[in-house]
Amino acid sequence: MARRTQVAIVGAGPSGLLLGQLLARAGIDNVIVERQSGDYVLGRIRAGVLEQTTADLLDEAGVGARMHAEGLVHDGFELCFGGARHRIDLAGHTGGKHVIVYGQTEVTRDLMAARSAAGLPTVYGAKDVAPHHFDGDSPYLTYTHDGQPQELRADFIAGCDGYHGACRAAVPPAALSIFEKVYPFGWLGILADTPPVSHELIYSNHERGFALCSMRSPTRTRYYVQCSLHDKVEDWSDDAFWDELRRRLDPRAAETLVTGPSIEKSIAPLRSFVAEPMRFGSMFLAGDAAHIVPPTGAKGLNLAASDVRILSRALVEHYRDHSDAGIERYSERCLARVWKAERFSWWFTSLTHKFPDTGAIGARLQRAELDYLVSSQAATTVMAENYVGLPFDG
Ligand code: APR
Ligand code: PHB
Repeated sequence: MARRTQVAIVGAGPSGLLLGQLLARAGIDNVIVERQSGDYVLGRIRAGVLEQTTADLLDEAGVGARMHAEGLVHDGFELCFGGARHRIDLAGHTGGKHVIVYGQTEVTRDLMAARSAAGLPTVYGAKDVAPHHFDGDSPYLTYTHDGQPQELRADFIAGCDGYHGACRAAVPPAALSIFEKVYPFGWLGILADTPPVSHELIYSNHERGFALCSMRSPTRTRYYVQCSLHDKVEDWSDDAFWDELRRRLDPRAAETLVTGPSIEKSIAPLRSFVAEPMRFGSMFLAGDAAHIVPPTGAKGLNLAASDVRILSRALVEHYRDHSDAGIERYSERCLARVWKAERFSWWFTSLTHKFPDTGAIGARLQRAELDYLVSSQAATTVMAENYVGLPFDG
């Protein structure tokens, strides 16, 4: 059965849901087609640090209330190395900017609730989703739902279907340039109902490897340790995790760390990835479908939001002002910001992790850069302005 909409969105992650919400508020029809169930999407645990521009966009989408009520405003974070912590004063180095610590799971939950409250259509459990004819102006999606073949015709397709999605995969390889780096380690993460070891995040560079102390709320923590790509989650008991985390922190944090049973534990690989361009005729890629950053600095969700901001404005311009200037510039505008965040995430990862191939000189060079970073106003400012998020078109 053929159905029609203005924008067919593939993927109900944060990119697809936020785009759908912004378009609907501008009077643009959209349907989201998602492979998994809603609960499955909500089960994925991802980073949780929002730049101000991301928070502003959630407000614009009408889903900012709980973020403002429950999100934690952080105007600094700490770098730990050489057995001591050093604070990066974000607000002091950026003219008062801050970040909001609010989990991606909660952002997704708020967007899903708003979408269902507005009665906007989402097809969950869609199999074999494929985009067609996106080189012309009558693209369509095909998929199977409840065993029935379906067709969704549209003016545009938004590929918000993540790194393993169908949209980028449908582009002829010759039309894509891929840039990729896979890091030789992973992050073992744990979620626990324990109070945070400190009221701000701690990023630690230690000779045993990187560690990060983050949080979801005043009573729920998210901690990570750098691990081998050969490690298996089953081989890491909670006690082994806590012991390893403690070893990688300064003595005071190690002593005050409150441990408890994990409620989630997983290993994630680290990757830098960009696919160019981000538009193919009437199909756009947004978020993880087009780019991946390693999680150090938590830019993934913020980059997804910045693509969606640029795309939603371009589509509003198309329908309301009958101008395709924003659509023509979509890829170029997104990629300018994407590459700056790719650079920052790669640099922050390189500065804080133990690399198997750089040896003793690599560790000494990291230490020199960390010392410089916390003692030079100029260097601290570079870190702070990237961490809180670079301006658009800047
Ligand atoms: N058909 C339909 N849906 C699909 C398909 C497909 N073939 N492939 C993937 N999807 C769905 C996934 O099930 C997922 O729900 O697309 C959605 C993509 O969501 P995310 O992977 O969360 O990507 P995105 O919305 O761009 O969010 C970016 O997620 O990975 C983090 O760090 C990243 O925080 C950033 C955010
Ligand atoms: C997280 O809370 O999961 C988190 C926070 C900051 C990061 C990465 C992940 O840089």
